[in-house]
Amino acid sequence: MADMKTEVVETDLLIVGGGMAACGAAVEAAYWAKQHGLKVTLVDKAAVDRSGAVAMGLSAINQYVGIKDGKNTVEDYVKYVRSDLMGITREDLVYNIARHVDSTVHLFEKWGLPIWKDAEGNYVHEGRWQLMINGESYKVVVAEAAKNALGAENIYERIFIVGPLMDGDVCVGAVGFSVREEKFYIFKAKAVLVAMGGAVHVFKPRSSGEGLGRAWYPPWNSGSSAYFTLKAGAEMTCQEVRFIPVRFKDAYGPVGAWFLLFKSRATNGMGGDYMAERRDELEKWVPYGKVKPVPANLRNWLMMLDVMDGKGPIYMRTEEAINKIASESGDEKAAKKKIKELEGEAWEDFLDMTISQAILWAGTNTAPEEKPSEIAAAEPYFIGSHSGASGAWVSGPKDLAPQEYFWGYANMSTVPGIFCAGDASGASSHKFSSGSHAEGRIAAKAAIDYIMDHPDSRKYDQRQIDALKAEILKPLEMFEQFGKASTDPEMNPNYIKPKMFMFRLQKIMDEYAGGVSSQFKTSKALLEKGLDLLQYLKEDSAKLAAEDLHELMRCWENIHRMWQAEAHVRAILFREETRWPGYYFRADKPSMDEKDWKVFVNMKWIPKDNKWEVFSKPIISIVN
Ligand code: ADX
Repeated sequence: MADMKTEVVETDLLIVGGGMAACGAAVEAAYWAKQHGLKVTLVDKAAVDRSGAVAMGLSAINQYVGIKDGKNTVEDYVKYVRSDLMGITREDLVYNIARHVDSTVHLFEKWGLPIWKDAEGNYVHEGRWQLMINGESYKVVVAEAAKNALGAENIYERIFIVGPLMDGDVCVGAVGFSVREEKFYIFKAKAVLVAMGGAVHVFKPRSSGEGLGRAWYPPWNSGSSAYFTLKAGAEMTCQEVRFIPVRFKDAYGPVGAWFLLFKSRATNGMGGDYMAERRDELEKWVPYGKVKPVPANLRNWLMMLDVMDGKGPIYMRTEEAINKIASESGDEKAAKKKIKELEGEAWEDFLDMTISQAILWAGTNTAPEEKPSEIAAAEPYFIGSHSGASGAWVSGPKDLAPQEYFWGYANMSTVPGIFCAGDASGASSHKFSSGSHAEGRIAAKAAIDYIMDHPDSRKYDQRQIDALKAEILKPLEMFEQFGKASTDPEMNPNYIKPKMFMFRLQKIMDEYAGGVSSQFKTSKALLEKGLDLLQYLKEDSAKLAAEDLHELMRCWENIHRMWQAEAHVRAILFREETRWPGYYFRADKPSMDEKDWKVFVNMKWIPKDNKWEVFSKPIISIVN
């Protein structure tokens, strides 16, 4: 395998990833590149039509400010995000996305995405910022525009990018391999736009065998963005901010339509409403405990307190919500008609984005208008969008960013040549699908500016490339060399297979870093022990073995996850408070400390010393 053929692709801008942010980047980059005669190339580990977090579709667009309707302002959005993240957010980044996101949504509609309309032709809002869509083909529609903009010859699919190619401190490309044919790839580029999503399956999932792979976040997003930026030496932010969504239990159906559109309650096994019964708890988390809507992590927390008290199951009261809306619609006949309509909408909500939840409803004889459904807090995920915040520390826009947050190009990381968007960029939560696309556009435009300002050709070190190739393909050699040492290739004294390696990582994170089975609780002592165990795991990562190209991808996915895990443990350890109960709780520092800890926790891995640095950065507010 060491003699695997190498293919070299030379380009100006390399977009790594194929999800919403990458598709936004493709459309924008193609426009500016054409004017300057530049080449733009996109590489995706899967197929752009159905890759990334929106692969299955969505039933709502969660970020639409509606500036032209005059109901909301960009400042309103920034305030919403700031409160929801308990004060920790880069307002310049959130502002920049929010002021551009509506135009992205209008593009989606132009490209053919059906957005629900009312009788007057206005968008149907799920909540203040959310629009209902018929989104089964959302990703296909957005991908088509990206593919048309770039041209098929500039899109490489089924190629797994492992990491960056560096010239000293500057990124000059990326390396990876095809998961379909025996080919090693070197992409040489003047700038790289990282949009490889966030990470799932770093923590042990709730389904550990019977439904393994089922998660809220797509299982193929495995921390490649975090690994790429960390290994390049980029500064990272909010690595302690994991996201835990509340979902319909076991199949992870979305709750937004129920809570916001249908105004449903959730109640515990005794019928109690935790949002009402535990309202006093919110006092402990002021000022954020007092804002409307209650921050997502605090909503989680009130529910978790019930679960920890043994008051489960927790139910989404679908039957109550549907019948209440129906009874308000007029006489008995009108109510019956309304129930049918709402029933249809309820099923579509799942069928648009989480088909397995509809299957679970069918399999458990659940008619939402007749009986409630269980909801539960999911396992932790790492994402820079939705209500997460982990990602690279990037420059803000020139006209908005405080000096401390600006170093030349919007969305460029601290490594020259690396731009980040979507789940790859940190401290700019609540960008969801539409905001990630808008952020991809912002980052791509800035990347083209960077390329124009730095037109010289880049230097490549063949020894570095050879070493990377050997390291990346090593798991194949491990198997070739030792595969016959046992009758079952899964059990072998010389190597570890990626699945077992993943289970080991998940066990460490679950038990020491506050996963599901430790009720999302951890402490300094637990984290230090976990960090210790992670170091042994890291040592053993050199013994990973792959039987084929697919397993080689699995090996690298899990190395990526392992780096995300280490960054997370180091960040929670550094932040000596509990700021986001409901995401994680530090039992030895059980309260929030606004005086000392209203700061960003940033970090970087220093390549030449193989050392981590963790430090704080001030929060500079730009919206009153
Ligand atoms: S989705 O990613 O599956 O669409 P989800 O269903 O959690 O998200 O929620 C959709 C949107 O509604 C998100 O913006 C989320 O923050 C918001 N949301 C969900 N539940 C509530 C609630 N109880 N109160 C306020 N906002 C909510």
